[in-house]
Amino acid sequence: TLPSHVKILDVGPRDGLQNEKANVATEHKAQLVALLQDAGLKEIEVTSFVSPKWVPQMADNTAVMAAITRKPGVRYSVLVPNLKGLEPALASRPDEILVFTAASEAFTQKNINCSIAESLERFAPVIEGAHAAGVKVRAALSCALGCPYEGEISADQVEAVVKPLRALGVDAIDIADTIGVGTPRKVQAAMERALKHFPTAEVSGHFHDTYGQALTNLYASLEVGVHSFHASVAGLGGCPYAKGATGNVATEDVVFLLNGLGIETGIDLDRLVDAGAFISGVLGREPVSRVARAVLAK
Ligand code: HMG
Ligand code: MG
Repeated sequence: TLPSHVKILDVGPRDGLQNEKANVATEHKAQLVALLQDAGLKEIEVTSFVSPKWVPQMADNTAVMAAITRKPGVRYSVLVPNLKGLEPALASRPDEILVFTAASEAFTQKNINCSIAESLERFAPVIEGAHAAGVKVRAALSCALGCPYEGEISADQVEAVVKPLRALGVDAIDIADTIGVGTPRKVQAAMERALKHFPTAEVSGHFHDTYGQALTNLYASLEVGVHSFHASVAGLGGCPYAKGATGNVATEDVVFLLNGLGIETGIDLDRLVDAGAFISGVLGREPVSRVARAVLAK
């Protein structure tokens, strides 16, 4: 039997916008967060406290966090790659921070300019500092289903990084298919490794839809009990350090699937489509979400 409830975290304001070349106004980012929470999203990834030289679009991190109107019951998360990012991140009062590394050495070098082992060393004081401030820590494991530089990634490679992350005190883990090459059995194998070390409620699937497999992989994850997923409204996004990678699975498409399965999300699909239409308008393009296009065409 499938889980009766699913938690959806919208990563649109962060993962969705980080790769946009043209600057998106701080007020538009805050407006997107407002529309998402009004549509019923309970978890939103707002911004990144990374180097502005590496990801210019996230340079207004502090301003965005100050501009959002916090809604009770909604949790706001931000990315933190190192200690330098921790102080401003904590000052912005997130509910959760996200550290990020990868199952692939080559991708880790391209994305955060260090080895996997060095990334874990860097995280130790970040995790400690966040916990001391009462803030939960999630870790993203990029390239868990394949790497743009190294190709195949095995479940053993996934577990080899999941395990030390847990030992460092990370509370939750995101199994991320950065370039969308995962297929159901492979996804289940990676999830099983994560579930060996983390409680089921703390394991999330983060699927980019580059090869059109994301919804299928989400369903495959439900089959092994995973009930927390990331999605990006309108299907926005792409990773600056993974050429050709497209956005996350669209939140609208995920909600439509879960509605059809009778699985509770607490999200109002029509309002979610409106949120996607808003940000797509700001970016001057159509939503990538198939469900949004169908709803808007009616
Ligand atoms: P580095 O160049 O090795 O770091 O970058 P450094 O310590 O040598 O510092 C270089 C400069 O950056 C210095 O400034 C630092 O002060 C500054 P300068 O002296 O040259 O003026 N700096 C910072 N500024 C602001 N905030 C900071 C910070 N740290 C250093 N936190 C670093 C290392 C990790 C900083 C860099 O590689 C970086 O920022 N990488 C982030 C890349 C990124 O954001 N990628 C996208 C997010 S991850 C993702 O999308 C995947 C995910 O969605 C899951 C999936 O799909 O796979 C989560
Ligand atoms: Mg991502």
